[in-house]
Amino acid sequence: MTVINNALFQRFETIVGSSHALHQDELVASYTTDWTGRFQGSTPLVLRPGTTDEVAAIVRVANDAGIALVPQGGNTGLVGGSVPLRGEVVLSLLRLDACEPVDILAQQVTLEAGVTLAQAQSHVSPFDLAVGVDLAARDSCTIGGMIATNAGGINVLRYGPMRDQLLGVEAVMADGSVISHLEGLEKDNTGYHLPGLLAGSEGSLAVITKARLRLHPHLEERCSAMLAFNSVQDAVRATAQLRRSVLDLQAVEVIFREAMDLVSTYISTSIPIGSDGSAWLLVEAASSSDPTDQLADAIDQLGALVSDVAVGRDSTSRAGLWQFREKITEAIATQGTPHKLDVTLPASQLAEFVTKIPEIISRVDSGATAVMFGHLGDGNVHVNVLGEGGLEPHEAVESAVLNYVAQLGGSISAEHGIGTAKKEFLHLNRSSDEVAIFRAIKSSFDPKGTLSPNTLIPPEQQ
Ligand code: FAD
Ligand code: MLT
Ligand code: ZN
Repeated sequence: MTVINNALFQRFETIVGSSHALHQDELVASYTTDWTGRFQGSTPLVLRPGTTDEVAAIVRVANDAGIALVPQGGNTGLVGGSVPLRGEVVLSLLRLDACEPVDILAQQVTLEAGVTLAQAQSHVSPFDLAVGVDLAARDSCTIGGMIATNAGGINVLRYGPMRDQLLGVEAVMADGSVISHLEGLEKDNTGYHLPGLLAGSEGSLAVITKARLRLHPHLEERCSAMLAFNSVQDAVRATAQLRRSVLDLQAVEVIFREAMDLVSTYISTSIPIGSDGSAWLLVEAASSSDPTDQLADAIDQLGALVSDVAVGRDSTSRAGLWQFREKITEAIATQGTPHKLDVTLPASQLAEFVTKIPEIISRVDSGATAVMFGHLGDGNVHVNVLGEGGLEPHEAVESAVLNYVAQLGGSISAEHGIGTAKKEFLHLNRSSDEVAIFRAIKSSFDPKGTLSPNTLIPPEQQ
């Protein structure tokens, strides 16, 4: 673990105040273990700055002293990037939680990095506006963490991931200098797009302190439907058809068999339709006028592809259907510590992938099970591998699944990022020339390697 001598401790404490420089075991515990419990680290110090100037001062002192920092938001990340696995100092951004007034003319807002997604949603909704990214960790995940991971969620097929919402950032660079570009000009072709580079950088290039986000009209009229399918292939075909025919399509999420059984037990509610099915879609259309007919017509056109349908029009019945999707991650967590593999497949390979995964996993760990669900409209499947009897699965399952993904032309990380969990597999998607460019970018932003040095980029082979 990094050693912080007294003089250094005092310099940090002077910057943030003694109540925001935490070192006692019981106070740092929640900052050193990730949401899943799989990644457990240790730290000599958690610093909780309250302003950009304080962040800049901390980063400068750390850089001068060669102390590694791990920026942390809500600590809901799922790839081990938010916790200090090599004894780094944790830089928590949660106290940067101010929301600037909504710019109604531009339909934009500037938010500090520690604002949670739920706070951002409540801040903009009185103006009939909405944040383009939504996900089940909304009460805890922060704008800074969502940008750093380029979070996706349930509405990517309509609005894109976090990178697409981003018009500008304020960020503290590794040497403590601050860059700020928050004007929010929709067109601004003045060279490299730094916000785009910071999106998905997972704390390795700079500390994001503020962001200017594009907002979208809040669509009040909504209709949701759960569709049951007898085969995975039918669900994939139906997804393609719905994407073509429903102009106001907001989400197409999927729940596969094991995930449906697990979540239905967890929420103590029986599966609403198609209890013998292989896959269920959760589909939502949203518009300023009632989209029910539009969605109903499109579902009719699916004909025999779909085995059963349940529709939710008012908010209570919609929430009743959505709980089967939103509660899956919690349901899985009750079964042990999963290895979370978040992948995208080309549409033509999705059905084969989902069908073959149980066999691929049991070849390397006969006691392991795969619980699958995800964002089918984006080709994104979450493969959660649970070991026998609540134990973690054999490490080799990851390599088996991710190699199979690469063989089918997919991505080993759809939306969660690389973190520390997938660094060793980056080569499956990125050539050695690309990784060399990653390293060059990292060293030009952070020459001394003090920002999240163990995340995203694999070590160079000796
Ligand atoms: P953290 O977990 O604190 O950090 C994540 C990464 O960002 C780390 O590498 C960290 O160092 C870096 N970081 C954090 N803040 C900053 C900053 N200000 N500057 C620079 N780097 C920073 N993800 C999806 O994409 N889609 C989903 O649908 C989704 N659903 C989820 C549901 C649940 C129940 C849970 C627990 C997680 C889910 N996630 C999902 C994963 C996670 O919520 C997102 O990745 C989220 O964006 C992380 O935000 P955070 O504030 O918790 O970041
Ligand atoms: C989700 O879509 O719910 C998530 O990305 C979280 C998970 O993979 O468990
Ligand atoms: Zn997801």
